[in-house]
Amino acid sequence: MKNNLSNIKKAKYYLDKDECIAIPTETVYGLAGNAYSDKASLRIFKLKKRNKKNPLIVHYSNLEMLNKDCFINSEFNKLYKKFCPGPITFVLKLKKQSNISKNVTNNKKTLAVRFPNHPKTKKLLKSLNYPLAAPSANISTKISPVSKRDVKEEFGKKIKFILDGGRSKIGLESTIVSLVGKTKILRLGGIENSKINKVLNKNLKFHKTNNRIAVPGQSRLHYSPGIPIRLNVSKPKPYEAFILIKKRNKTFKNYYYLSKTKNLKQAGRNLYKTLRIIKNKNYKSIAVEQIPNIGFGETINDRLKRASVK
Ligand code: TXA
Ligand code: MG
Repeated sequence: MKNNLSNIKKAKYYLDKDECIAIPTETVYGLAGNAYSDKASLRIFKLKKRNKKNPLIVHYSNLEMLNKDCFINSEFNKLYKKFCPGPITFVLKLKKQSNISKNVTNNKKTLAVRFPNHPKTKKLLKSLNYPLAAPSANISTKISPVSKRDVKEEFGKKIKFILDGGRSKIGLESTIVSLVGKTKILRLGGIENSKINKVLNKNLKFHKTNNRIAVPGQSRLHYSPGIPIRLNVSKPKPYEAFILIKKRNKTFKNYYYLSKTKNLKQAGRNLYKTLRIIKNKNYKSIAVEQIPNIGFGETINDRLKRASVK
């Protein structure tokens, strides 16, 4: 490879060779590979130590390419118009003639698709003649990465290239909406349910499921810093790191703030970063104060609950 290539061209160079690289998105960084390639998609599972039954999200930059792989419907059109590119993932019916690798879907007849909103990744996707399978760029069950540095911490030299796109603006994964059968919200995320409901004129709630086949990644320990977490705490133990939603006048060394003024978006953006900092400081446990369970706070609480599964 020529050294003077732009970073986007370097990224393309590796992807065209069926390698996996990390890409920035507005939600979290993804571990990306050619979604049409059996080899590249298998690599993603290996690197992430991910259960093969857990299908991958595929990233597109235009509807033309998506139309080759999936059926769309009127609800998709409405949501796409309002939120894409952006932090929303759609589960759609896969077309028989699609070239998506069977590894990506685990042989299922549906595909999760997303149009990420990050200038570098958009440019990269436009330069490719295939979409990118890209789960979050962390080892399975661990904290998702929101910067180049986080990805390095997860994979070290095991991945060939990280396309640096700065810190992820949203900092939490996309909202997943299933449009196959009855419309459902499968994962809380970067777009609040209320906004989706407004567009669809519905009253959908987060569809909690214990069915690992329906949403494999939704039912077990996830987003974990690897140490115990206690939620809704008002008084932390002296040895605990204490995560607070809003900056206090009186502060202590073990206090970590998610936002200055109880701003839930800012708190969401800081959540994974804060968990990673605490983990690296070798605390033995974490306490978190109560986070309002409204709007984006619902997504934050969802991630905290999963991170605290024993
Ligand atoms: O914001 C995001 O969505 C990030 C960025 C990189 O795009 N990606 C991400 O991917 O969070 P991942 O793999 O960490 O989470 C995707 C979730 C998993 O829980 C997986 O089980 C679910 O989507 N999923 C994938 N394909 C599915 C399908 N066909 N039906 C239902 N759920 C699916
Ligand atoms: Mg993930």
